[in-house]
Amino acid sequence: MSENDRAMKLLMGFQPLAHGTRDRTLVVERGRGVFVFDEKGKQYLEAASSFYVASLGYSDEELIETATEQLRTLPYYPSAQYRAVPTAIALAEKLAEILPVADAKVAFAATGSEANDFLVKFLRFHNQMNDLGHRTKVIARTGSYHGATLASASLTGGHHEEFGLPLPGFLHTEQPFRTSIREGESQAAFAERLADELEALILREDPETIAAFLSEPVSFSCGLVVPPADYWDRIQAVLAKYDIRCFADEVVTGFCRTGNWFACETYGIRPDAVTIGKGMASGYFPISAIAMDGDFYRGIERGSDKLDGFAHASTHAGHPVGTALALKVIEIIDRRDLLRHVREVGAMLQGKLGGYADHPLVADVRGVGLSGAVEFVSERSAGASLEPSSVACSIFTERARENGLLVRGTGSTAMIAPPLVITREEIDELFRRFDRALAETEARVRV
Ligand SMILES: Cc1ncc(COP(=O)(O)O)c(C=O)c1O
Repeated sequence: MSENDRAMKLLMGFQPLAHGTRDRTLVVERGRGVFVFDEKGKQYLEAASSFYVASLGYSDEELIETATEQLRTLPYYPSAQYRAVPTAIALAEKLAEILPVADAKVAFAATGSEANDFLVKFLRFHNQMNDLGHRTKVIARTGSYHGATLASASLTGGHHEEFGLPLPGFLHTEQPFRTSIREGESQAAFAERLADELEALILREDPETIAAFLSEPVSFSCGLVVPPADYWDRIQAVLAKYDIRCFADEVVTGFCRTGNWFACETYGIRPDAVTIGKGMASGYFPISAIAMDGDFYRGIERGSDKLDGFAHASTHAGHPVGTALALKVIEIIDRRDLLRHVREVGAMLQGKLGGYADHPLVADVRGVGLSGAVEFVSERSAGASLEPSSVACSIFTERARENGLLVRGTGSTAMIAPPLVITREEIDELFRRFDRALAETEARVRV
């Protein structure tokens, strides 16, 4: 066994654990702009912002300066128990201004998983303390990923059995997968059927036991599942009918990814709470947040009044470096007019993606804002099944990597969501590498 075949001490998930050997692992050493470089110096265009995080790219000098300055001034201090740091106070203020949540109150956490977990915990506190203790259940959607902790993995719509999940009280309703549309069914009829399925689940469980519905406005985590027109109106109408709170997981979609600051704006969602993370500090520091609507929050505060306390805090929530960086990210997006830039390069990206719709290996292309998905088939010939297959997709992601392009493979779908700062020339370069990888995939897959 060579040195490289040997397992590393580092455990890496989202892959078979036994594949955690040196030779199977891309070791990324440094980054510049939208590019990263491996330990041999090979350059890759990071077309998925590495897990949808590095929104401002890998070498933003202003962010580096901000983190360095904050480390020099105050590297750590908590924000709880009558103490707080100025950056946490200012960031909560700023987020309340820009988030699509009325009269927001903001809590911080370190990861998206924690943000979703804390939100469920806050919801349970709210209901326990406001004579709504019978409403404990949360509905999420099949396929979507919401995190790694027990509650967020229970919200996640899959991989339950192997972990003995979900915890009691976590339910799942159908995701608007393109493959679930019935023959001849219109978008409107599909949306109505999904809303009916949600309502049937609520009635089966008893509406008085359901506290909230939590979902991504558009699910990136299961391959960019773009909701049909009317979907969100229909879903929100069902939730309103039974007094069920609507929570939006914007951990991926927040901070301009869909062409608006938040995807709730893109899809007309009026949430009672939003969770954000990932691109918030562009990955220069782990930080996430939960923003709760004022009405929902006041119920929590009433509970706290009764107890004269609130037994929740987290050591790194509101960390000075993370909050300083997130403030700087917001300032940079505004000052550099990145939202307009995202819309411009996003339109270019959508145009390019559209060109693959008729490719023999492609089952579907989808996109929103500065992100797109190419869903692969393994075979396509007259009369052959068009069922998506992960085979072509995994060959493609491997060929893309060989050609210096990192996309995110999710089942049969290759995801593209480059840093928001990507230029038009870099998008051209992205698709040059994409084309080479696609041609090599074609040569390897029998069509
Ligand atoms: C939609 C969504 N929510 C939550 C999470 C969890 O975030 P984290 O990995 O930072 O805990 C993820 C991570 O991929 C995600 O895609």
